[in-house]
Amino acid sequence: MDQTMSLENCDFSERLKSKNSVDCLREEIAELKTRRNAVILSHHYQAPDVQKLSDYVGDSLGLARQAAETDADVIVFCGVHFMAETAAILNPGKTVLLPGAGAGCSLADMVDVHAIREWKEKHPGGLVVSYVNTTAEVKAESYVCCTSSNAVSVVNALPEDKPILFVPDFYLGAYVREKTGREMELWLGECHVHAGIRSADIDHAIERYPDAELMVHPECGCTTGILFQRPDLPLLSTSQMVAYAQRSQAEQFLVATEVGILYQLAKQVPHKSFMPIRADAVCPYMKMTNCENVRDVLRNLSNKVTVDSGVARKARVALERMFQVPPDRH
Ligand code: 13P
Ligand code: SF4
Repeated sequence: MDQTMSLENCDFSERLKSKNSVDCLREEIAELKTRRNAVILSHHYQAPDVQKLSDYVGDSLGLARQAAETDADVIVFCGVHFMAETAAILNPGKTVLLPGAGAGCSLADMVDVHAIREWKEKHPGGLVVSYVNTTAEVKAESYVCCTSSNAVSVVNALPEDKPILFVPDFYLGAYVREKTGREMELWLGECHVHAGIRSADIDHAIERYPDAELMVHPECGCTTGILFQRPDLPLLSTSQMVAYAQRSQAEQFLVATEVGILYQLAKQVPHKSFMPIRADAVCPYMKMTNCENVRDVLRNLSNKVTVDSGVARKARVALERMFQVPPDRH
Protein backbone atom coordinates (compact mmCIF):
# COMPACT_ATOMS: atom_id res chain seq x y z
CA MET A 1 0.00 0.00 0.00
CA ASP A 2 1.28 3.50 -0.90
CA GLN A 3 1.94 5.30 2.38
CA THR A 4 2.69 8.57 0.62
CA MET A 5 -0.81 9.00 -0.84
CA SER A 6 -2.29 12.45 -0.54
CA LEU A 7 -4.85 13.01 2.16
CA GLU A 8 -5.33 16.66 1.28
CA ASN A 9 -8.87 16.16 0.04
CA CYS A 10 -9.86 14.76 3.37
CA ASP A 11 -11.74 17.92 4.46
CA PHE A 12 -13.90 17.37 7.51
CA SER A 13 -14.72 21.02 8.14
CA GLU A 14 -18.17 20.78 6.52
CA ARG A 15 -19.08 17.82 8.62
CA LEU A 16 -17.83 19.59 11.74
CA LYS A 17 -20.54 22.21 11.23
CA SER A 18 -23.32 19.67 11.42
CA LYS A 19 -21.93 17.04 13.80
CA ASN A 20 -20.58 16.76 17.28
CA SER A 21 -16.81 17.33 16.99
CA VAL A 22 -15.87 14.19 18.96
CA ASP A 23 -17.95 12.01 16.61
CA CYS A 24 -16.40 13.77 13.66
CA LEU A 25 -12.89 13.18 14.95
CA ARG A 26 -13.65 9.50 15.45
CA GLU A 27 -15.06 9.28 11.93
CA GLU A 28 -11.99 10.96 10.52
CA ILE A 29 -9.72 8.55 12.38
CA ALA A 30 -11.75 5.58 11.11
CA GLU A 31 -11.44 6.78 7.51
CA LEU A 32 -7.73 7.48 7.81
CA LYS A 33 -7.24 4.07 9.36
CA THR A 34 -8.88 2.37 6.38
CA ARG A 35 -6.87 4.43 3.87
CA ARG A 36 -3.61 3.69 5.63
CA ASN A 37 -4.45 0.06 6.40
CA ALA A 38 -3.61 0.92 10.01
CA VAL A 39 -4.31 -0.68 13.35
CA ILE A 40 -4.58 1.26 16.64
CA LEU A 41 -3.13 -0.48 19.70
CA SER A 42 -3.57 1.01 23.19
CA HIS A 43 -2.24 0.26 26.62
CA HIS A 44 -4.67 0.09 29.56
CA TYR A 45 -3.21 3.31 31.00
CA GLN A 46 -4.39 5.39 28.05
CA ALA A 47 -7.19 7.91 28.58
CA PRO A 48 -10.69 6.42 28.07
CA ASP A 49 -11.29 8.39 24.83
CA VAL A 50 -8.16 6.85 23.33
CA GLN A 51 -9.05 3.33 24.53
CA LYS A 52 -12.49 3.76 22.92
CA LEU A 53 -11.10 4.36 19.44
CA SER A 54 -8.58 1.50 19.58
CA ASP A 55 -8.74 -1.87 17.83
CA TYR A 56 -7.03 -3.58 20.73
CA VAL A 57 -6.43 -2.52 24.34
CA GLY A 58 -4.19 -4.63 26.54
CA ASP A 59 -1.18 -5.14 28.76
CA SER A 60 2.43 -5.08 27.56
CA LEU A 61 2.50 -8.77 26.61
CA GLY A 62 -0.84 -8.65 24.78
CA LEU A 63 0.25 -5.54 22.89
CA ALA A 64 3.58 -7.08 21.88
CA ARG A 65 1.74 -10.18 20.61
CA GLN A 66 -0.77 -8.06 18.66
CA ALA A 67 2.08 -6.05 17.17
CA ALA A 68 3.83 -9.27 16.13
CA GLU A 69 0.72 -10.72 14.50
CA THR A 70 -0.94 -7.77 12.76
CA ASP A 71 -1.18 -7.64 8.98
CA ALA A 72 -1.75 -3.87 9.01
CA ASP A 73 0.83 -1.68 7.22
CA VAL A 74 0.78 1.00 9.91
CA ILE A 75 0.73 0.48 13.68
CA VAL A 76 -0.45 3.47 15.72
CA PHE A 77 0.89 2.83 19.19
CA CYS A 78 -1.07 4.57 21.93
CA GLY A 79 1.40 3.99 24.71
CA VAL A 80 4.99 4.96 25.41
CA HIS A 81 8.21 4.86 23.41
CA PHE A 82 9.55 1.48 24.54
CA MET A 83 6.26 -0.16 23.52
CA ALA A 84 6.37 1.40 20.06
CA GLU A 85 10.01 0.31 19.76
CA THR A 86 8.99 -3.25 20.61
CA ALA A 87 6.41 -3.12 17.81
CA ALA A 88 9.10 -1.81 15.42
CA ILE A 89 11.54 -4.57 16.46
CA LEU A 90 8.91 -7.24 15.80
CA ASN A 91 7.81 -5.69 12.49
CA PRO A 92 10.85 -4.41 10.62
CA GLY A 93 8.87 -3.70 7.43
CA LYS A 94 6.03 -1.75 9.03
CA THR A 95 5.46 1.87 9.93
CA VAL A 96 5.09 2.41 13.67
CA LEU A 97 3.71 5.75 14.86
CA LEU A 98 3.70 7.12 18.41
CA PRO A 99 1.02 9.84 18.76
CA GLY A 100 2.35 11.10 22.10
CA ALA A 101 5.61 12.70 20.97
CA GLY A 102 8.10 12.46 23.85
CA ALA A 103 6.12 9.78 25.68
CA GLY A 104 8.99 8.12 27.53
CA CYS A 105 9.05 6.05 30.71
CA SER A 106 10.79 6.85 33.99
CA LEU A 107 11.51 3.14 34.51
CA ALA A 108 13.05 2.57 31.06
CA ASP A 109 15.21 5.67 31.68
CA MET A 110 16.84 4.00 34.69
CA VAL A 111 19.24 1.89 32.68
CA ASP A 112 21.20 2.38 29.48
CA VAL A 113 23.23 0.09 27.29
CA HIS A 114 26.61 1.10 28.83
CA ALA A 115 25.43 0.34 32.36
CA ILE A 116 24.12 -3.05 31.24
CA ARG A 117 27.41 -3.95 29.58
CA GLU A 118 29.32 -3.04 32.76
CA TRP A 119 26.88 -5.08 34.85
CA LYS A 120 27.38 -8.11 32.58
CA GLU A 121 31.16 -7.75 32.88
CA LYS A 122 30.88 -7.82 36.68
CA HIS A 123 28.77 -11.00 36.54
CA PRO A 124 30.27 -13.21 33.82
CA GLY A 125 27.93 -16.03 32.83
CA GLY A 126 24.89 -14.19 34.21
CA LEU A 127 21.75 -14.11 32.07
CA VAL A 128 20.14 -10.70 31.69
CA VAL A 129 16.35 -10.78 32.01
CA SER A 130 14.98 -7.42 30.97
CA TYR A 131 11.49 -6.23 31.71
CA VAL A 132 9.99 -4.91 28.46
CA ASN A 133 10.10 -1.42 29.97
CA THR A 134 13.59 -0.92 28.53
CA THR A 135 15.09 0.64 25.41
CA ALA A 136 15.76 -1.44 22.31
CA GLU A 137 19.53 -1.22 23.03
CA VAL A 138 19.05 -2.72 26.49
CA LYS A 139 16.86 -5.49 25.05
CA ALA A 140 19.60 -6.21 22.53
CA GLU A 141 22.02 -6.83 25.45
CA SER A 142 19.53 -9.16 27.16
CA TYR A 143 19.15 -12.93 27.02
CA VAL A 144 15.37 -12.79 27.36
CA CYS A 145 12.64 -10.20 27.98
CA CYS A 146 9.66 -10.50 30.29
CA THR A 147 6.53 -8.56 31.22
CA SER A 148 4.56 -8.34 34.45
CA SER A 149 2.36 -11.22 33.25
CA ASN A 150 5.10 -13.78 32.58
CA ALA A 151 8.18 -12.76 34.64
CA VAL A 152 7.96 -15.71 37.07
CA SER A 153 7.57 -18.26 34.26
CA VAL A 154 10.36 -16.68 32.21
CA VAL A 155 12.81 -16.91 35.12
CA ASN A 156 11.68 -20.46 35.97
CA ALA A 157 12.41 -21.46 32.38
CA LEU A 158 16.09 -20.45 32.61
CA PRO A 159 18.87 -23.00 33.30
CA GLU A 160 19.25 -23.44 37.06
CA ASP A 161 23.04 -23.14 37.15
CA LYS A 162 23.03 -19.60 35.74
CA PRO A 163 22.78 -16.47 37.91
CA ILE A 164 20.14 -14.00 36.76
CA LEU A 165 20.58 -10.26 36.29
CA PHE A 166 17.11 -8.73 36.45
CA VAL A 167 16.64 -5.22 35.06
CA PRO A 168 15.33 -2.54 35.61
CA ASP A 169 12.38 -2.82 38.08
CA PHE A 170 13.49 -3.64 41.62
CA TYR A 171 9.99 -4.39 42.95
CA LEU A 172 9.08 -6.80 40.17
CA GLY A 173 12.52 -8.40 40.52
CA ALA A 174 12.10 -8.88 44.28
CA TYR A 175 8.71 -10.53 43.69
CA VAL A 176 10.13 -12.88 41.05
CA ARG A 177 13.11 -13.76 43.25
CA GLU A 178 10.75 -14.65 46.10
CA LYS A 179 8.45 -16.75 43.88
CA THR A 180 11.20 -18.62 42.05
CA GLY A 181 13.81 -18.95 44.80
CA ARG A 182 16.46 -18.20 42.15
CA GLU A 183 19.76 -16.44 42.70
CA MET A 184 19.07 -13.00 41.22
CA GLU A 185 20.90 -9.69 41.07
CA LEU A 186 18.35 -6.86 40.99
CA TRP A 187 18.79 -3.49 39.33
CA LEU A 188 17.66 -0.63 41.60
CA GLY A 189 15.16 0.88 39.18
CA GLU A 190 11.56 1.91 39.72
CA CYS A 191 8.60 3.49 37.97
CA HIS A 192 7.85 6.80 39.70
CA VAL A 193 4.09 6.24 39.39
CA HIS A 194 4.01 2.74 40.88
CA ALA A 195 6.77 3.32 43.43
CA GLY A 196 4.53 6.00 44.95
CA ILE A 197 1.95 3.36 45.93
CA ARG A 198 3.20 2.45 49.41
CA SER A 199 2.22 -0.08 52.10
CA ALA A 200 0.59 2.71 54.15
CA ASP A 201 -1.76 3.43 51.20
CA ILE A 202 -2.79 -0.23 51.12
CA ASP A 203 -3.36 -0.37 54.90
CA HIS A 204 -5.44 2.80 54.79
CA ALA A 205 -7.62 1.54 51.89
CA ILE A 206 -8.20 -1.87 53.55
CA GLU A 207 -9.28 -0.10 56.75
CA ARG A 208 -11.88 1.84 54.74
CA TYR A 209 -13.06 -1.08 52.59
CA PRO A 210 -12.47 -4.25 54.65
CA ASP A 211 -14.58 -6.44 52.32
CA ALA A 212 -12.87 -5.41 49.12
CA GLU A 213 -10.39 -7.67 47.38
CA LEU A 214 -6.90 -6.35 46.66
CA MET A 215 -5.31 -6.32 43.18
CA VAL A 216 -1.69 -5.13 43.07
CA HIS A 217 0.65 -4.56 40.13
CA PRO A 218 4.17 -5.92 40.78
CA GLU A 219 5.83 -2.54 40.01
CA CYS A 220 4.21 -0.98 43.10
CA GLY A 221 6.34 0.26 46.00
CA CYS A 222 4.13 -1.74 48.38
CA THR A 223 5.09 -5.13 46.92
CA THR A 224 7.93 -5.86 49.34
CA GLY A 225 5.55 -5.26 52.28
CA ILE A 226 2.92 -7.46 50.62
CA LEU A 227 5.40 -10.30 50.10
CA PHE A 228 5.95 -10.23 53.85
CA GLN A 229 2.34 -9.70 55.03
CA ARG A 230 0.35 -11.53 52.30
CA PRO A 231 2.77 -13.94 50.61
CA ASP A 232 -0.07 -15.76 48.80
CA LEU A 233 -1.47 -12.68 47.09
CA PRO A 234 -0.69 -12.93 43.35
CA LEU A 235 0.68 -9.72 41.85
CA LEU A 236 -1.04 -9.01 38.54
CA SER A 237 -0.40 -7.36 35.18
CA THR A 238 -3.18 -5.05 34.00
CA SER A 239 -4.82 -7.73 31.80
CA GLN A 240 -4.54 -10.24 34.62
CA MET A 241 -6.45 -7.77 36.84
CA VAL A 242 -9.38 -7.77 34.40
CA ALA A 243 -9.43 -11.59 34.25
CA TYR A 244 -9.05 -11.89 38.04
CA ALA A 245 -11.96 -9.49 38.71
CA GLN A 246 -14.13 -11.41 36.25
CA ARG A 247 -13.66 -14.77 37.95
CA SER A 248 -13.48 -13.62 41.59
CA GLN A 249 -16.49 -13.96 43.91
CA ALA A 250 -15.79 -10.49 45.33
CA GLU A 251 -17.97 -7.50 44.44
CA GLN A 252 -15.53 -4.73 45.36
CA PHE A 253 -11.85 -4.33 44.47
CA LEU A 254 -9.01 -2.08 45.58
CA VAL A 255 -6.73 -1.47 42.62
CA ALA A 256 -3.04 -0.68 43.03
CA THR A 257 -1.74 0.52 39.66
CA GLU A 258 -2.09 3.45 37.25
CA VAL A 259 -5.71 4.64 37.17
CA GLY A 260 -6.24 4.18 33.41
CA ILE A 261 -7.07 0.50 34.07
CA LEU A 262 -10.24 1.55 35.93
CA TYR A 263 -11.98 2.38 32.64
CA GLN A 264 -11.32 -1.11 31.25
CA LEU A 265 -12.30 -2.80 34.54
CA ALA A 266 -15.60 -0.89 34.63
CA LYS A 267 -16.22 -1.75 30.98
CA GLN A 268 -15.40 -5.44 31.16
CA VAL A 269 -16.71 -6.16 34.66
CA PRO A 270 -19.64 -3.71 34.85
CA HIS A 271 -21.52 -5.27 37.76
CA LYS A 272 -18.59 -4.91 40.22
CA SER A 273 -16.96 -1.83 41.74
CA PHE A 274 -13.31 -0.73 41.63
CA MET A 275 -11.52 1.82 43.80
CA PRO A 276 -7.99 3.07 43.14
CA ILE A 277 -5.55 2.73 46.04
CA ARG A 278 -4.20 6.12 44.91
CA ALA A 279 -6.28 8.32 42.62
CA ASP A 280 -3.15 10.33 41.84
CA ALA A 281 -1.33 7.32 40.33
CA VAL A 282 -1.36 8.88 36.86
CA CYS A 283 1.40 8.28 34.32
CA PRO A 284 2.11 11.60 32.60
CA TYR A 285 3.75 9.82 29.66
CA MET A 286 0.75 7.60 28.97
CA LYS A 287 -1.51 10.65 29.02
CA MET A 288 0.43 12.40 26.24
CA THR A 289 -1.74 10.61 23.69
CA ASN A 290 -5.11 12.04 22.73
CA CYS A 291 -7.60 11.63 19.88
CA GLU A 292 -6.22 14.68 18.07
CA ASN A 293 -2.64 13.44 17.95
CA VAL A 294 -3.85 9.97 16.90
CA ARG A 295 -5.59 11.68 13.98
CA ASP A 296 -2.53 13.81 13.22
CA VAL A 297 -0.05 10.93 13.03
CA LEU A 298 -2.41 9.01 10.77
CA ARG A 299 -2.86 12.04 8.52
CA ASN A 300 0.83 12.94 8.27
CA LEU A 301 2.54 9.62 9.02
CA SER A 302 4.49 11.60 11.60
CA ASN A 303 6.26 10.54 14.85
CA LYS A 304 7.68 7.38 13.27
CA VAL A 305 9.54 5.12 15.68
CA THR A 306 12.43 3.20 14.14
CA VAL A 307 15.12 0.91 15.55
CA ASP A 308 18.59 0.33 14.07
CA SER A 309 18.46 -3.00 12.19
CA GLY A 310 21.45 -4.53 14.06
CA VAL A 311 19.98 -3.61 17.43
CA ALA A 312 16.54 -4.84 16.34
CA ARG A 313 17.92 -8.21 15.23
CA LYS A 314 19.48 -8.87 18.66
CA ALA A 315 16.51 -7.48 20.61
CA ARG A 316 14.12 -9.67 18.59
CA VAL A 317 15.92 -12.79 19.82
CA ALA A 318 15.28 -11.75 23.46
CA LEU A 319 11.62 -11.00 22.70
CA GLU A 320 11.11 -14.25 20.81
CA ARG A 321 12.58 -16.26 23.68
CA MET A 322 9.96 -14.58 25.88
CA PHE A 323 7.10 -15.52 23.51
CA GLN A 324 8.02 -19.19 23.89
CA VAL A 325 7.19 -19.09 27.62
CA PRO A 326 3.51 -19.32 28.61
CA PRO A 327 2.21 -16.51 30.90
CA ASP A 328 2.16 -16.98 34.71
CA ARG A 329 -0.91 -18.79 36.02
CA HIS A 330 -2.93 -17.34 38.91
P1 13P B 1 1.30 -4.17 32.12
O1 13P B 1 0.05 -3.62 31.50
O2 13P B 1 2.01 -5.11 31.22
O3 13P B 1 1.00 -4.74 33.46
O4 13P B 1 2.33 -2.94 32.20
C1 13P B 1 2.47 -2.03 33.18
C2 13P B 1 3.29 -0.86 32.80
O5 13P B 1 3.82 -0.17 33.62
C3 13P B 1 3.42 -0.46 31.43
O6 13P B 1 4.06 0.73 31.39
FE1 SF4 C 1 6.74 3.83 32.63
FE2 SF4 C 1 5.56 3.80 34.99
FE3 SF4 C 1 4.44 5.14 33.02
FE4 SF4 C 1 4.47 2.46 32.97
S1 SF4 C 1 3.40 3.74 34.41
S2 SF4 C 1 4.97 3.85 31.29
S3 SF4 C 1 6.42 2.01 33.94
S4 SF4 C 1 6.42 5.60 33.96
